[in-house]
Amino acid sequence: MAPTPATQGKKAASQIAPASGKLGVMIPGMGAVATTFIAGVEAIRKGIAEPIGSLTQMGTIRLGKRTDGNSPRIMDFVPLAGLNDLVFAGWDIFEEDAYEAALHAGVLEKDLLNQIKPFLQSIKPMPAVFDRHYVKKLDGRHVKQGKNKMDLAEQLRADIRNFKKSSGVERLVMIWCGSTEIFLTQTAVHASPAAFEEGLKNNDENIAPSMIYAYAAMMEGVPFANGAPNLTVDIPVMLELSKKNHAPIAGKDYKTGQTLLKTILAPGFKARMLGLAGWFSTNILGNRDGEVLDDPGSFKTKEESKLSVLEQILQPELYPKLYKDFYHKVRINYYPPRGDNKEGWDNIDIFGWLGYPMQIKVDFLCRDSILAAPIVLDLVLFLDLAKRCPELSGLGIQEWLSFYLKSPMTVPGLYPEHDLFIQSMKLKNTLRHLRGEDMITHLGLEYYD
Ligand SMILES: NC(=O)c1ccc[n+]([C@@H]2O[C@H](COP(=O)([O-])OP(=O)(O)OC[C@H]3O[C@@H](n4cnc5c(N)ncnc54)[C@H](O)[C@@H]3O)[C@@H](O)[C@H]2O)c1
Repeated sequence: MAPTPATQGKKAASQIAPASGKLGVMIPGMGAVATTFIAGVEAIRKGIAEPIGSLTQMGTIRLGKRTDGNSPRIMDFVPLAGLNDLVFAGWDIFEEDAYEAALHAGVLEKDLLNQIKPFLQSIKPMPAVFDRHYVKKLDGRHVKQGKNKMDLAEQLRADIRNFKKSSGVERLVMIWCGSTEIFLTQTAVHASPAAFEEGLKNNDENIAPSMIYAYAAMMEGVPFANGAPNLTVDIPVMLELSKKNHAPIAGKDYKTGQTLLKTILAPGFKARMLGLAGWFSTNILGNRDGEVLDDPGSFKTKEESKLSVLEQILQPELYPKLYKDFYHKVRINYYPPRGDNKEGWDNIDIFGWLGYPMQIKVDFLCRDSILAAPIVLDLVLFLDLAKRCPELSGLGIQEWLSFYLKSPMTVPGLYPEHDLFIQSMKLKNTLRHLRGEDMITHLGLEYYD
């Protein structure tokens, strides 16, 4: 077919399989974030509440020129699974169903939970793969037994297949909402599928439970998102299996409270060439996540994830006079009275013209799981989209989803983009690209011709 003026110069749209049938969402860790997400989806389906904070549900995407007035909703622009098509399952070390777990988490009001009680009660976690060595502050009895880690991986793979069969879903996504594990670094056992499988059989200490879930997902061709700062899929074995089995991955660590604000503010300081002398961040929180992070091993994992953000955004190597020696400190304090309602303080020492110092104080009284739930929803829907799109499904890491993540994964050797506005543009341009639409560059000279 000859190109028409409208299609001339445009690339062909990617072939994306339709989002037909149901989508199963499998969640290791049915705590505060997971239950706030699940209960929220059900409340939205019932018309009780709105999906505030979700780009897939509320966002639009501009196409063409500003004067075209063409900004469809994202959910109408790309074929995403609908909320009514989501079916949930998960694993936890506690036997509580999703209603009891949500009550325990104390994020959503009892009144809201009671309106969807039978639905939440129907979601009962499967026994978990767990080992206290990796999360010192937790102890649960609802755990799988196996002769070695490979046996546990096989049990998880069986769970995945059984859920798919019994629920009748067509596709699956797995998203980690489990606790933060102790700090681990890459070793030889993570280098290849052969080494990893040998390690599973030998109960290698460097293989954490979260990696066993991720391995099971990869082997079943199921996309996996890592909501915690754990090493989980940031290792060569997972990159290789992800590509080979067309199981897209995204990670890591949901970008919610303080780090979200950091990646909004810091790009602004840099854009205006304002210097930074120091950034002191402290938090109090009293939920189970806070209790887990009270352990130095788990805190170290979180700290690493939180610290890299400023270095990457401010690029001291390019701007030594502005950012060479800034002092960055992050503290998290477990303080039970606050529950999930975290308070994050930031004291930011900046300097301006001729080096004159100024201070900014931010006090963010946030709700952690309220900020995380829409991220979980969007990651699930976009990873399922990636799985259905041949251009993306074999790429491994889905860097275009960095928007949602505190410590975005990139291909080895490539530094991550932390700036929320670059991440947002990257995400939307990826969607435009998939649909054969022009990128938006914001050049705009043509309006003045
Ligand atoms: N809430 C946020 O804003 C936010 C932001 C970024 C990251 N995260 C991360 O998300 C994760 C969940 O946070 P949360 O507030 O829901 O915590 P939570 O403690 O309420 O829930 C975690 C759940 O995971 C379970 N769990 C732990 N290890 C498991 C395993 N091996 N298998 C199955 N279940 C397991 C725990 O029993 C618990 O129920 C944490 O790692 C947290 O650091 C949360």
